Amino acid sequence: MCGNWKMYKTPGEARALAREVANGLRGADDGPEVAVCPPFPSIPAVREILEGTSVAWGAQNCSPHLEGAYTGEVAVPMLVDLGCRFVILGHSERRQIFGETDSSVHEKLQTVLGAGLTPIVCVGETLDEREAGRTEEVVDRQIRGAFEGIPGAEVGRTVVAYEPVWAIGTGRTATPEQAEAVHRRIRATLSGLHGEDVATATRILYGGSVKPGNAGELFSQPNIDGGLIGGASLSARDFLAIVGAECSTE
Ligand code: 13P
Repeated sequence: MCGNWKMYKTPGEARALAREVANGLRGADDGPEVAVCPPFPSIPAVREILEGTSVAWGAQNCSPHLEGAYTGEVAVPMLVDLGCRFVILGHSERRQIFGETDSSVHEKLQTVLGAGLTPIVCVGETLDEREAGRTEEVVDRQIRGAFEGIPGAEVGRTVVAYEPVWAIGTGRTATPEQAEAVHRRIRATLSGLHGEDVATATRILYGGSVKPGNAGELFSQPNIDGGLIGGASLSARDFLAIVGAECSTE
């Protein structure tokens, strides 16, 4: 289970939220793996609180380059130094607002894997694409664009997040059946690329308006391995309730 805090939470606010999340999970070490991804400047504050707890932390983006004259960018070795375990890649907000493409996601994926961190690769169709019956084609292209040419052993330790763009921040969730159908398809595509063992090992999260009230039925689907949570992860109470919903479906 991963919280994507997007561009919310100053370092001070992030510290408080991380503390609430960690306190809420204290003693629940046999539950699902939990991580939060704050904005870059809030990562050190979150680390201060979460070090030594069961909650991991990560970043929302990175440069494909290890260092260099790239003003405004953040390199993966910097994230390693900050104790990050995860990096979200290719979120639809980055694709739509900042022009990221399948090939930039692929490059970043190689860099993140090379550093030993766990990428969370986001894919998902827009409303227009769904209505035109193109969901599978779009998601296939995004999965192939990211994972083609990456060694199977590496792919098996990645995380994919299916986030239909029309469900992000809209309050309109995919039905469990809609989400499960795409998750099943993603696993089949991964299986075609890298074999069934790799496809089975790859965790596939669902993201898009997950709330305490709908989390349980989403996570009970066979191919939904957890969630990537936006808005609801900004409230410790909601986020903890969603983690609890996953516990009860395990
Ligand atoms: P919401 O949970 O706010 O819909 O956002 C989902 C998301 O984009 C997570 O990465």
